[in-house]
Amino acid sequence: MTLLRDTPSTALSFCLASTFHLEFPVPLRRLAFTFLLLSVPCLQAQEAKPTLHEALMATRADRAGEPGVTAAFRRLAETYGTPLYIYDQPHIQGQVQALQTAFASRFPKLRILYAIKANTNPVVIKLLKAKGLGAEVVSRGEIETALRVGYTGPEIMFTSSSKNPGEIRRAIELGAVLNVDSLDELGQIQIEARQQKKQARISFRVNPGVDPHTIHQINTGIAESKFGLHLQDGLAFKAYEKAKGMPEIRIEGAHCHIGSQITEADGYVLTARKMLGLVKDLKEKLGIKLSFLDLGGGLGIPYEDGQTVMSPDDLAKALEPVWKEGVAAAGYEPTLWLEPGRFFVGGSGFLLTRVNTVKVTPLKTFVNVDAGFNTLMRPAMYKAYHRVRVIGKTKDPKLVDIAGDVCETGDILAEARTLPMAEAGDLVVILDAGAYGFSMASEYNARPMPAEVLVDGNAVRVIRRRGTYPELFRNTESAVPAKR
Ligand code: LLP
Repeated sequence: MTLLRDTPSTALSFCLASTFHLEFPVPLRRLAFTFLLLSVPCLQAQEAKPTLHEALMATRADRAGEPGVTAAFRRLAETYGTPLYIYDQPHIQGQVQALQTAFASRFPKLRILYAIKANTNPVVIKLLKAKGLGAEVVSRGEIETALRVGYTGPEIMFTSSSKNPGEIRRAIELGAVLNVDSLDELGQIQIEARQQKKQARISFRVNPGVDPHTIHQINTGIAESKFGLHLQDGLAFKAYEKAKGMPEIRIEGAHCHIGSQITEADGYVLTARKMLGLVKDLKEKLGIKLSFLDLGGGLGIPYEDGQTVMSPDDLAKALEPVWKEGVAAAGYEPTLWLEPGRFFVGGSGFLLTRVNTVKVTPLKTFVNVDAGFNTLMRPAMYKAYHRVRVIGKTKDPKLVDIAGDVCETGDILAEARTLPMAEAGDLVVILDAGAYGFSMASEYNARPMPAEVLVDGNAVRVIRRRGTYPELFRNTESAVPAKR
């Protein structure tokens, strides 16, 4: 417990002992007793002082008005500035544990990767790597990021529907799995592998034609989406048939990813059924046995107070019978791969901002903060909902918009929220900003990139320093042309 954390506890123990020590003179015992009584409020205050991790949890639990929580955020803002991304390390580790526990007991042949696009901070990726996760990447930059944190080429899965020749070359050189999105790409991989005198390891990204009912822009497995080779009309099957005849290609698996922020298991179940049907067909009709079947990422997290979403356990439970039936029909069991991003890091992230001004207009009240869609793109881009907490305030609730500092009407971080009234200088925290927050941030409006810190207990580690004004010009004053 936090009691006595920073207290001179030896003095208090002495007083306690003296009070009840019958051989001590009465005046001394009275004095010790008085001192003990006087220290009670002070002890209570000590007890209320939360660690930074506890302050983050309290904020999530809508207790951001408490003095200890306020003090913790003020300390962070004064030391590291705002806007500031704060990640809670135990949360990330707990999420990995939850997924591993739910799946490992039901799927003995299991491999979990981290879709690093969700949060590409190398220290965050290292946390996930330390838990045994592989890396799913979508660009040369993400390949280099994965290598930098210690992944080897063969541990990397490279998915993109539009890979450039340099990316294909690099992935083959490294021995990464290329997750192939079209026949055109397959042909290019074949030529490059021939040149490198290597066999390229591949899977096909399959479009299963399943709608998981999520936000339109992140719904990827429906027939009209740009991703993957469609199961429909046998396109995916034909791609495998073609690849089988290519000596430069080593077929290793099949992949699909039906979307992001999925909150119900049904879409996964239907997808798994369809994909296992393909697994069976490939073996029976083409003699192809896959080493893995990747069902993608997409596991949703609760963004709203009281929102319930499918848990890893719900998903594992729902998939288990379909998987068992499918592998029995196929006559063998490929390893089940999963590749979530958001699920691991989303809830760990808190975006700390400071109020610049408050403005009352005839229609609305705007609380203008020092972050915008350049810092957190999700609300503007997807109309995504993020909970907001005003730090240190509990009174005077008002209907307000939390507005960003970008010069665009659409730069509203939270619309029509009833929140304790904030004033200039107050701190406002936006929750669940750990996934697709910093990784989608930009320097738009010439605002330097925010800093990122990682919290563990009461320890804070700066894992990315704040951008600087000179950095805004870092690539414009060089005479050397950039090459891919
Ligand atoms: N695998 C592939 C092939 C993906 O395209 C993605 C995400 C993932 C895995 C990880 O999905 P997750 O588990 O994080 O849902 N910017 C949007 C999300 C875009 C997701 C893109 N692909 C957002 O802020 O909601």
